[in-house]
Amino acid sequence: MTSKTVTMVVLITAVLLMTGIQAVQADEYTSADLELWQNEYDAAVKRGRQVFTDQKLGTNGVVCAQCHPNAANTHPETYPKYQKQLGKVATMAEMINFCIMNPLEGSALALDDQRMVDMQAYITNERKGESLAPGKH
Ligand code: HEC
Repeated sequence: MTSKTVTMVVLITAVLLMTGIQAVQADEYTSADLELWQNEYDAAVKRGRQVFTDQKLGTNGVVCAQCHPNAANTHPETYPKYQKQLGKVATMAEMINFCIMNPLEGSALALDDQRMVDMQAYITNERKGESLAPGKH
């Protein structure tokens, strides 16, 4: 390298550092963090299983588990996908709301409603290990 090239490299590096362009680094975490996160996740799955038999989700006494025992026939690994009932590419949460509004005759949940999050944790956990197959029918 000529001294001119070296000067250029040093200058460019200095500019990059000053403008804050650096490698992105993940936050550090401890084994206590991991344990806490696993426990929180397990609790969500457990609550989700309970929501699957919660008659208060709808108005007619019907529950998710009647048609989807152990979250059967929910296929979380295929989302997002085109859903005929909705006429568009939809997320699984939208299909959950479809079933709440139709077979259960209830009101749609907000996407960040704890029960919505918990049901997705439960459904997806039941299909753990399944290969992702977005769009599949
Ligand atoms: C009376 C039976 C019935 C009940 C009760 C019911 N579902 Fe469904 N569910 C269906 C049918 C039928 C479909 C449509 C399957 C299809 O063609 O995609 C479906 C589809 C779904 C899908 C998408 C499945 C896929 O293959 O893409 C999800 C997720 C789902 N239901 C979740 C729920 C949840 C959560 C509840 C409770 C809130 C619930 N369902 C209640 C019958 C039911």
